[in-house]
Amino acid sequence: MPRPVASPLLAAAAGGAALLFRQLFDAATGSFTYLLADVATGQGLLIDPVFEQHGRDLSLIQELGIELVACLDTHAHADHVTGSWLMHQATGAAIALAATAGAENVTLPLRHGDRVAFGSHHLEVRSTPGHTDGCLSYVLDDRSLAFTGDALLVRGCGRCDFQQGDAHMLWRSITEQLFSLPDSCLLYPGHDYTGRLVTSVVEEKAFNARLGGAATERDFVGHMQAMKLPHPHRIAEALPGNLRSGKPRQQRPSDSWAPLQRSYAGLPELLPAWVAEHRSELILLDVRSLEEYNGPDGYVPGSLLLPLPELEQRSGEIPTDRPVVVVCHSGSRSALATQQLLKAGRSQVANLRGGLSRWSDEGYPLEGAAAA
Ligand SMILES: [Fe+2]
Repeated sequence: MPRPVASPLLAAAAGGAALLFRQLFDAATGSFTYLLADVATGQGLLIDPVFEQHGRDLSLIQELGIELVACLDTHAHADHVTGSWLMHQATGAAIALAATAGAENVTLPLRHGDRVAFGSHHLEVRSTPGHTDGCLSYVLDDRSLAFTGDALLVRGCGRCDFQQGDAHMLWRSITEQLFSLPDSCLLYPGHDYTGRLVTSVVEEKAFNARLGGAATERDFVGHMQAMKLPHPHRIAEALPGNLRSGKPRQQRPSDSWAPLQRSYAGLPELLPAWVAEHRSELILLDVRSLEEYNGPDGYVPGSLLLPLPELEQRSGEIPTDRPVVVVCHSGSRSALATQQLLKAGRSQVANLRGGLSRWSDEGYPLEGAAAA
């Protein structure tokens, strides 16, 4: 296999460090997803992806040029469906989960003591049951950070009253597997609902409301057993979904009118090649100024000019019989126009990625362009 070359973009995106680390959040379920990548090789791991955030996560991975090795779930979640299967389909990344969870479609069943390598780094797998009987925590090779799933949350911990939960077991998992890490080890939880993103071993030993300070196992178990928590409302949908690793029961028929690529900025985009090939089935909306349209950059033959500042008032002039692809010089103003049109209720709208500049670089025709 050819030896991968470090990408300057990834190296800079990692802040000059050897490891890229991103924390992502799903507001609907308060769930965290984590992306790690080894800068030297571009190999990465994704921890606890959320099904509904698949497009966001995939575009980030693609924009940064990361070769995803595996998606690791910390456990079979009861409150959201994993995005692992979708990511496996999109990137070929392995689907990793505790072997004891017994889920379908897992390609990398994990056990305590396993190592999941990415580039020259690895995550160490620690079994931390108690919230569920298959909970795993993942510890970075240098023990500077760990991903604790729902075993240990910031100043709290996961509930123990369903999915084979057991408070005695959770006490042992936390005190023996997590509190044995260095005090300075940063702990990244599976959830938080109040805006807390990260904690550390030293803080949780001192301040965790259930087992920090002088709390004993008896205190902890008494606390957990006295909690009266409502039944998780998505469990009936989420758990069976997660026991298929997030593979949908039925493939949804694609209602997409084009091979849209969603950028990490959240925008539906199309590449020049597809737009050029389907030119006659599309409305090309140019949102530059009249001067630019008639200027040396030229314009795409047959495109409709509607300068961005006038778009809101004049959007009724855009025919509704075909999808709209918005263009400008670089794809920046057209990005805003795309958002405005989507907000106004047009459903089949996309931005031309890279604008006329990329269109022209790739050799597609422009009218009125000054000869280079
Ligand atoms: Fe959970």
